[in-house]
Amino acid sequence: MSSTVNTSPKTFRVKSFGCQMNVYDGERMAELLAAEGMSAAGEGDDADLVVLNTCHIREKATEKVYSDIGRLRRKDGSAPLIAVAGCVAQAEGEEIMTRAPSVKVVVGPQSYHRLPEMVAEAASGKRATETDMPAEAKFAALPKRRKSAPTAFLTVQEGCDKFCTYCVVPYTRGAEISRPFADLVEEAKLLVAGGAREITLLGQNVNAWQGEDDKGRSIGLDGLARTLAADPDLKRIRYTTSHPNDMTDGLIAAHGELEKLMPFLHLPVQAGSDRVLKAMNRSHTADSYLKLLDRIRAARPDIALSGDFIVGFPGETDAEFEATLRLVDAVGYAQAFSFKYSPRPGTPAATMPDHVPAPVMDERLQRLQAALNRDQLAFNQASLGKTCQVLVERRGKHPGQWLGKSPWLQSVHFVGESEIGQMVTVKLVEAGPNSLAGQLI
Ligand code: 5AD
Ligand code: SF4
Repeated sequence: MSSTVNTSPKTFRVKSFGCQMNVYDGERMAELLAAEGMSAAGEGDDADLVVLNTCHIREKATEKVYSDIGRLRRKDGSAPLIAVAGCVAQAEGEEIMTRAPSVKVVVGPQSYHRLPEMVAEAASGKRATETDMPAEAKFAALPKRRKSAPTAFLTVQEGCDKFCTYCVVPYTRGAEISRPFADLVEEAKLLVAGGAREITLLGQNVNAWQGEDDKGRSIGLDGLARTLAADPDLKRIRYTTSHPNDMTDGLIAAHGELEKLMPFLHLPVQAGSDRVLKAMNRSHTADSYLKLLDRIRAARPDIALSGDFIVGFPGETDAEFEATLRLVDAVGYAQAFSFKYSPRPGTPAATMPDHVPAPVMDERLQRLQAALNRDQLAFNQASLGKTCQVLVERRGKHPGQWLGKSPWLQSVHFVGESEIGQMVTVKLVEAGPNSLAGQLI
């Protein structure tokens, strides 16, 4: 086995996999390491410390961690100091070091504020593991936010109490907690001061966020969004991921009233058959989901919808899968994510009977994705001729080209005078499956 450098690391790289919350956590870990005097390794340069910020949601994501660990080598052939963070760290703990002895630090998603001291321990030759889920906030121990891209993530809620029977999140991210209102207002202010023009509020069940405002009144996510929207330099607010059962009247109304709340909603449904939804413990039906969408569309007629789907949940029949296709047809999603069911250790579904054979799952996924792609293209084509605002995020590949997002979270490219962070008005003139061309107005 390879040996690890036994000196304090000076450079680091954080690689995040999986969801947007991991992206957020990865940024915060990088800020934390930088505050300790380490510097981010440049593109293509060796790093003394590599943090793999991992995802446990499906088996493939988990296995990827181990193949990545095996491949981590510096140019002289030695292994960097490897830290495994994120949900695989939480789920597998010290086991990771048994399977991959080059890993010296294992730190769960609720403990990464301790990363610098754990790295120091590891650099002195010890191994360090921390997978406690303390209720006290890691956030308070993190350095204050500084520079930000035009679009920023802000974790407002973590964890999940829903216990969908296929999902590891309640085990890896723990029980639902909401970060305090005042902390979020402060973090948002710092992000905006650092350059953010759009903030996406994050949570595994973001719309379950609850807090007390500065007058002691209980508020939900809509109240938080209203407060943040009062900052004139913040132009856009988004939030993800939501559970249908936590779409409150207030939040629905906010979509009609709050101009800065973007007309886009990621609202996973997972499947279209009520029997499957019940076995998944989703606590909504296909019909209650569709009725909810009707109310949301009544508040904000142009809202773009996104979803998550699982095909091949244990026991799913052909007829039950067809119900998913019918639901997709009924909704007309602007975009969506779809996955083959992956049995996760410790979840109730993993021990349910009648697992669906792989070729059947493959075929169902293909059919579902064909339908979703068709609808995504149709949604983009229906946007042609519209004039909308685009928040410029980066330069495109071609000279003079810029890339950004429409209010409906479509990628838009255009050519002309602009700069990163600017809000421009464009007319949408060409539509592809994954992006649109805009003309500066
Ligand atoms: N298998 C396949 N997909 C899953 N998801 C969650 N758990 C599993 C699993 N065991 C999907 C759900 C969820 C998204 C983040 O990942 O669709 O909404
Ligand atoms: Fe997982 Fe269900 Fe919670 Fe979403 S709501 S994180 S799918 S348990």
